[in-house]
Amino acid sequence: MSFKKKILCIGAGYVGGPTMAVIAAQCPEYKVTVVDVNAERIQAWNGDHLPIFEAGLLEVVRQARGRNLFFSTDIPGGIREADIIFVSVNTPTKTFGHGAGMASDLQHWEKTAHQIVAHSDRAKIIVEKSTLPVRTAEAMERILQENKKGIRFDVVSNPEFLAEGTAIQDLLHPDRVLIGSRPGESGRRAAEEVAAIFAHWVPAGKIIATNLWSAELSKLVANAFLAQRVSSINSVSALCEKTGADVDEISFAVGSDHRIGPHFLKASVGFGGSCFKKDILNLVYIARSYGLEEVAGYWESVVRINEYQQERFVRTIIDEMFHTVVGKKIVLLGFAFKADTGDTRESPGIHVARKLLEERALLAVSDPQALGNARRDLAGFSGQVEFEPDPYRAAVEAQALAVITEWRAYCDLDFARMFASMRKPAFVFDGRNILDHHRLFEIGFNVFPLGKPAMTHFS
Ligand SMILES: NC(=O)c1ccc[n+]([C@@H]2O[C@H](COP(=O)([O-])OP(=O)(O)OC[C@H]3O[C@@H](n4cnc5c(N)ncnc54)[C@H](O)[C@@H]3O)[C@@H](O)[C@H]2O)c1
Repeated sequence: MSFKKKILCIGAGYVGGPTMAVIAAQCPEYKVTVVDVNAERIQAWNGDHLPIFEAGLLEVVRQARGRNLFFSTDIPGGIREADIIFVSVNTPTKTFGHGAGMASDLQHWEKTAHQIVAHSDRAKIIVEKSTLPVRTAEAMERILQENKKGIRFDVVSNPEFLAEGTAIQDLLHPDRVLIGSRPGESGRRAAEEVAAIFAHWVPAGKIIATNLWSAELSKLVANAFLAQRVSSINSVSALCEKTGADVDEISFAVGSDHRIGPHFLKASVGFGGSCFKKDILNLVYIARSYGLEEVAGYWESVVRINEYQQERFVRTIIDEMFHTVVGKKIVLLGFAFKADTGDTRESPGIHVARKLLEERALLAVSDPQALGNARRDLAGFSGQVEFEPDPYRAAVEAQALAVITEWRAYCDLDFARMFASMRKPAFVFDGRNILDHHRLFEIGFNVFPLGKPAMTHFS
């Protein structure tokens, strides 16, 4: 079968896989190939057990796979035949050398640029899908233009705004699709080619054209704003615990103001995920590198409050359990960084678990989707941790339950049954404020919500 256009995506991760599956499903006349250096991942994309858990993803993949959606490890072959190449490789925080702990590690990104040059024999459009520091496209262009073959490459920025857990819905109904390009005829045509893909299902008014640098920076700023709201309400939760105010009532009251709005105002044990922290730190690093110390300090505080909130949660557990958790079994209800995903990257659960283990607690980690990742995250603590998908079994002989992830199923647990199998006094620390605290108190638990008065049976 001959296809109208051939699209390649380098990087078959949380972004590359779902994004390309949706493009293939919506654009049957395009051939969409997703390549990755990780052969195991590609094999999983070609089977029924996809490498990531995302509602509705398998159905979309099945709709297009083998028809116009292909997963492969043949990176040179994919580059050769592609007209448009999306680059969706990981861009984690640098862990070494200059900028360690702050700047983006662009080694995977640069490697793909060299690969594209090596295996191309005609003009191509290169689309930045990964989240990148502002002006990365310039570096990309320099590498690409170095080719001795006289080939023209147009670099376009198309940052991804999907949220894990709702990726398919976000891709099908995006708030906006951002396409940044260079001024001039060639840049405009490249942007139009990319826009034409999304125009298959996204209304024209939601496809926004900007300059390259605005597109790159918008992604960092969007994540920084979202994370800032979480840190803002989390900082207020600490104040509520001192004053007797209720953080959920404050969220509702504040979020009812249409200028503020209700989203991302839920107090929690802290934000996680692979993006928020790294993207803010990247923003901080960029601001600092331009000498904008006040700007850098402002955004850095969003990350600091997040660390403070995680630390505060652990401190509350230890302090309220009579200042020691040595040998006490504590159940972590959830380990994913948020509900509806199995992803644990930067999950507050990792910090909470490690701190409690350092305090010599015994942990039972339960999660419907994330136990495989949790095992990897807590490798090295094997004697002290059990991984138990069934929350009821996890609770046996435990002394405390700590909610880490807002899985809806946790609201429907039979807590009286759990209480009966636990040691007394029994505690609940609700790091997501999702449980019925009054009911838990009636059952006999000592209850510690976030940003609300605690309920204890101690006189
Ligand atoms: N995860 C999210 O929710 C999300 C949302 C929006 C944007 N982003 C951004 O998208 C990018 C990708 O994120 P992700 O979560 O999909 O990462 P990921 O780690 O899940 O996937 C990246 C993939 O790229 C592959 N890869 C790395 N170098 C390669 C190379 N040279 N050739 C071929 N494959 C290579 C890796 O093997 C991996 O499978 C990041 O920049 C991230 O910031 C992520």
